[in-house]
Formats: sequence, C-alpha cells, structure tokens
Amino acid sequence: MRLDIFSLFPEAFDWLQTQRPVQNALREGNELRLFNYRDSAPPPSRKVDDSPYGGGAGMVLRVDIIDKALQDAYGEGKRPRIVLLTPTGRLLDDELADELVAEPHVAMLCGRYEGFDERIHEHLADDEVSIGRYVLAGGELPAMVVADVLMRKLPGALGNASSAAEDSYGQVLEGMPEYPHYTRPPVHRGWKVPEVLLSGDHEKIREWRLERSRERARAYAEATGEAHPKPAGGAQNSASRTE
Ligand code: ADE
Repeated sequence: MRLDIFSLFPEAFDWLQTQRPVQNALREGNELRLFNYRDSAPPPSRKVDDSPYGGGAGMVLRVDIIDKALQDAYGEGKRPRIVLLTPTGRLLDDELADELVAEPHVAMLCGRYEGFDERIHEHLADDEVSIGRYVLAGGELPAMVVADVLMRKLPGALGNASSAAEDSYGQVLEGMPEYPHYTRPPVHRGWKVPEVLLSGDHEKIREWRLERSRERARAYAEATGEAHPKPAGGAQNSASRTE
C-alpha cells in the first residue's frame, strides 16, 4: 500500500521510518511519503492558518491551503482515501485498521492549532479518525499510531513467521486479547512459568493459550460492561458464544 502523511512537521516522522516493521514493509514495496502543508502555502509568509471567523481563541487551518496541498500531490488524478485525524473522529480499532490497510492508497491529514476549517471535513476528507477521546496538540502522534498499526499488518512487516493476525484483537484470536507470554528463566523469585508451557505438548499449549485469551476477554467485559470484542465487529469470540 501507499501511505501519505500531510503535516506541518514531517520531520516528526523520522523516528517512525527507522522502525524495523516500517523498514520491512517499505522493502516489500509499500510506500510512506511525507508532505508539508507549508510547501503549498504562498511565499514569503507560507502561512497555513488564520483566526476563526466569529472570534474565539486559536488559529484554524485554511481550506485553500489544504486543498492546494492535495492538488499539488495528486493533481487531477485519482485521490487516495483521505483520512483526517481529529479527536472527534471514528475511534481507531483493529477493525478500522484492517479496513484502511486493505486500501491501496491512504492519505492522512494532521491537524494543529484549533483544528481544520470545517470545509476540509465536509469537502476534502473521506473519513475522520481519532486515537482516543482526549485532545492532543496535533495529529502527528495519532498519524504515527495509525501508520504503525497499518504498517505492521502488511505482509512481511514483522519479518518472520509471526504475523499481526496473531496479535491481540486479530483474526487468529477472533478479536480477543492475546494470551500471556513467558521466557527464561523458568523461575524468578519463586514466580513460576506455567508448567504446560514447558511440557512441549503443542495441543495442550494451544488450548491453554486460547483459554487465557477467553479469560482476558471475560475480565474486560466484566470491568467495562462492554462485550469484547464488540458484537457488531464481525467475529464473535468463543467465550461469548458459549455464555
Ligand atoms: N488530534 C488531536 N487529538 C487527536 C486525537 N485524540 N485523535 C486523533 N487526532 C487528534
């Protein structure tokens, strides 16, 4: 897939690009491109924002500048799926990540200041995505979260036999949280690794792990009052089916 990120701080993504799963995904032929809104703003000021009509605090990202940035990037050609990062958007979860990673081309627009001129929401964006119900200073951290989630789902990104489908909330665990992991030493300060994991009995280990995932899903449901995974989210976990 190709993932484009529009931001006032493209250098914020330098670290992301050093990460192994991202590098692997890029080596597999995927692309990550960064764009600076300011390159599409008129010189000499290169101003991208202005004060809100009607008064009020803060500055608002201008629709003409964002429109021009998209025009400069894509011209009259086919547009990618354009995702605005906003605190009020659709909450990011594994289901949304699967939906986005299935797209051949996605562009994420990072906000700053008080946010985007409403016409950007109305006329330029296909989706609005939030990484949680809190307000960050800008969309760069959310874009990095989304990029990380998407990149590690791409074939070859995890670089070995494992795949993101085996993660918590993934398809292999039918949307349930992942089971606990242990490694050496087998005992530390009297804290033991469960016997079954040392038994070499792969069938027993598989059953034990599945049961731990179900337990975690039940504990989540009890703590929050929410089904886990969400009933609307396609696959139901076996725990909720048997209840
Ligand atoms: N921009 C500011 N806060 C955000 C959030 N929580 N999610 C996505 N974009 C944001």
